[in-house]
Amino acid sequence: MTPQHIKYAALLLLIPFGALAVSAFQNQTVLRTVAHGPIQVDHANLGCSDCHIAPDATWRQQIQANLRYVVGARSEAVDFGYHPVTSDTCLGCHERPNERHPIYRFREARFQDAQEIVDATSCLGCHTEHTNERAFTQVDFCVACHGDLELKTDPLDVSHLQLIKDENWGSCLGCHDFHGNHAYEAPKLLDAAFDVDALEAYLADGPNPYGTEKLYEAKGP
Ligand code: HEC
Ligand code: HEC
Ligand code: HEC
Ligand code: HEC
Ligand code: HEC
Repeated sequence: MTPQHIKYAALLLLIPFGALAVSAFQNQTVLRTVAHGPIQVDHANLGCSDCHIAPDATWRQQIQANLRYVVGARSEAVDFGYHPVTSDTCLGCHERPNERHPIYRFREARFQDAQEIVDATSCLGCHTEHTNERAFTQVDFCVACHGDLELKTDPLDVSHLQLIKDENWGSCLGCHDFHGNHAYEAPKLLDAAFDVDALEAYLADGPNPYGTEKLYEAKGP
């Protein structure tokens, strides 16, 4: 037996436990107690399988395939487990026509440097799950792309040009949401901007300063 075979033989010995885990996965109440960490507040009504999609082959088929691998009747093992969670999983419920910063836009080469600061090409570059927070970014990540921003006529009391000169990147989210999906108009006075504390609270699990009214609602579970 190769080390690879030993690994799979060991896995197969664990099948009774695996089966237990599967039935737990299908049982939401059990799941909530074994989950990785707390689901973010706005996802409280989602089921695990809304994001964790089972592979096409049934578990029995997977187990049989891997048994045949162990006894040498198959040249390759198959994946146990679930498909990874990707941006497509999120877009299944959150796709919308008014997106201000669509992820596909940032796959262009000119955003390569920006990507070192924040990965704007994937939902999971800024969001995750099981940490009870809405987004894990710092509030000032706009610096990655808007360093040369200039408005023809700037409506602000402290112009965008001045904000950028002052490196006041913490102010941007104070007036603009990121996705442009809140029914909310950016103010013109710097005093009216939400402060960094309020923004950080929102990016965690606190109240939404932009208000709860959305232009496009997410699809429910
Ligand atoms: C809103 C989508 C979403 C929901 C709902 C959700 N998860 Fe997750 N889950 C994720 C994401 C995102 C990750 C991190 C994946 C990564 O980092 O590659 C994850 C990771 C995990 C992991 C770790 C897997 C690994 O490969 O590290 C487990 C276990 C898990 N989730 C179980 C659950 C259970 C149990 C539930 C139901 C209580 C649940 N999840 C509900 C999105 C979700
Ligand atoms: C099955 C549908 C579904 C899936 C899949 C889903 N969501 Fe959600 N999400 C919702 C619903 C419903 C809400 C609550 C309504 C709302 O805020 O629009 C929500 C809320 C949110 C919020 C907070 C909204 C707020 O205003 O505070 C964030 C952030 C979010 N989802 C991100 C994600 C990410 C990232 C993924 C992929 C890992 C994902 N969602 C997967 C349905 C889904
Ligand atoms: C570059 C970072 C970044 C990326 C990439 C990103 N988000 Fe966000 N997202 C944020 C920030 C910051 C907020 C809080 C500000 C706001 O509400 O717009 C947020 C808020 C949200 C909200 C709540 C507000 C709303 O618009 O309804 C949802 C839902 C959401 N994101 C889903 C997604 C999904 C789905 C993707 C992938 C298609 C994604 N995000 C990609 C940073 C990001
Ligand atoms: C990965 C790059 C990137 C990041 C990070 C980024 N932006 Fe943008 N943003 C863009 C691009 C590209 C446009 C489109 C500009 C255009 O169409 O000329 C844009 C447009 C905008 C617009 C104008 C949208 C409209 O409808 O005209 C606003 C407002 C904005 N961004 C604010 C922000 C804020 C606030 C942040 C930080 C929270 C941020 N952006 C982070 C790349 C980025
Ligand atoms: C005091 C509130 C305020 C602050 C702070 C602020 N903005 Fe704005 N911003 C506005 C308003 C108002 C407009 C014009 C109306 C609109 O587009 O919403 C605007 C317009 C924009 C536009 C669109 C420009 C165009 O050509 O249409 C972008 C991009 C932008 N802001 C990015 C930023 C970035 C990046 C920061 C942080 C350096 C920032 N804003 C800080 C209020 C603010």
